Amino acid sequence: MSNTPPTLPTSIERVQARDFVPTEEFALHLDRLDPLTSFRSQFAVPNTQRDRPSVYLVGNSLGPMPLEARELIAEELDAWATLGVEGHFHAKRPWYSWHEQLREPLARLVGARPHEVVAMNSLTTNLHLMLTTFYRPEGKRTKLLIESGAFPSDIFALRSHVAARGLNPDAEVVELAPQEGAWTLEERDIEAACERLGGTLACAVLPGVQYRTGQAFDLARVTRAVQAVGGRCGFDLAHAAGNIDLQLSASNCDFAVWCSYKYLNAGAGAVAGCFIAERHGRDTALPRHAGWWGNDPKTRFQMSDRFHPVQSADAWQLSNPPIFALAPLLASLRLFDKASMPALRRKSIVLTGYLEYLIRDALDTNAEILTPASASRRGCQLSLLFKDNPRVRFDRLTSAGIVCDYREPGIVRLAPAPLFNTFHEVWRAAAAVRDACR
Ligand SMILES: Cc1ncc(COP(=O)(O)O)c(C=O)c1O
Repeated sequence: MSNTPPTLPTSIERVQARDFVPTEEFALHLDRLDPLTSFRSQFAVPNTQRDRPSVYLVGNSLGPMPLEARELIAEELDAWATLGVEGHFHAKRPWYSWHEQLREPLARLVGARPHEVVAMNSLTTNLHLMLTTFYRPEGKRTKLLIESGAFPSDIFALRSHVAARGLNPDAEVVELAPQEGAWTLEERDIEAACERLGGTLACAVLPGVQYRTGQAFDLARVTRAVQAVGGRCGFDLAHAAGNIDLQLSASNCDFAVWCSYKYLNAGAGAVAGCFIAERHGRDTALPRHAGWWGNDPKTRFQMSDRFHPVQSADAWQLSNPPIFALAPLLASLRLFDKASMPALRRKSIVLTGYLEYLIRDALDTNAEILTPASASRRGCQLSLLFKDNPRVRFDRLTSAGIVCDYREPGIVRLAPAPLFNTFHEVWRAAAAVRDACR
């Protein structure tokens, strides 16, 4: 690390790794340059320390509360109290069409057309709904592809779908592991697996950003590999939505699901998101689990005994949506719209790059960064693998006020989120990592 920068950077956009300086002054300078710095005051960022502010680096697990969430929930409670059933059509935001106001901001967030996205249910529920539609085992085409280190809920969902169709999950669910000795699965590994599976591959469910390593995948490339052999391609974007700049329509994937309590800051158990490509949304013949809220709103109240799906992602909705649970998501999406995903991403690359720069030298043979070094292959999270006494090191970080999390085997995840974390916080976290490594 050099202590003598040629010149101090004058804008976040122009900061390069070679400009970094390890001093507190420099971190404060970057905060002064940060055009998004005012967004932090829109959140209640939790403080777990009595004597000094803690550093909340777990937006990848549960994002902090947007202050407006309280107001928006209160408005809905007031509408309920004063209007009762009339709230469906006469509330300030009528409940009947409430979810529609989320469409545009959600679409902007994930790079989709508005009719390709819907906020509903939870991530795992949406994955089940998608598998009902897109996992159609037929003849030899019966395999489901997933990565071996996938979040357990995804594997459970896939296995249960295979079993529900009377097939054997051990035979049909293919769990793809990284190369021997590697932590990250490469796109070329996925391409090779797809070629191997060929006409037996029915559907793949892969991550946008891997939850343990923080690795980001090239969604278009993965989609091409799966579809080239005739499979359907879906993504779990739990760690990608609100973290990386997604272009779902352009990726050509068939479907995607994500939760909203992590980077989307919509609160514990928040209403999740779902993307269904336009070509499928238009296809009313697709098999699916149906419910009245997926029926075309024009005929919904005709109370017919035949389902007429609306020609969009909304057709996968089952029930009328939980308005009080959706309100925080609206508050959060308003902030994403104001900040804009490209601007957030620009800051995020510098923020995480700075964290990596500050801790790289402190890591010894007993610790390594599992997350890919290239900005295009990761989001904001850095995953550190501590090979000896990982719990002790994690506890040291926690006692220093760094709120991060621990995943077996010995992985500490630090996720500076550009909406509310500062460069000074990253500097403090790095100092704590260096202490924990001693
Ligand atoms: C990568 C990933 N997939 C799926 C899930 C399950 O999400 P949910 O409980 O919202 O269904 C999680 C939860 O943390 C996750 O991190």
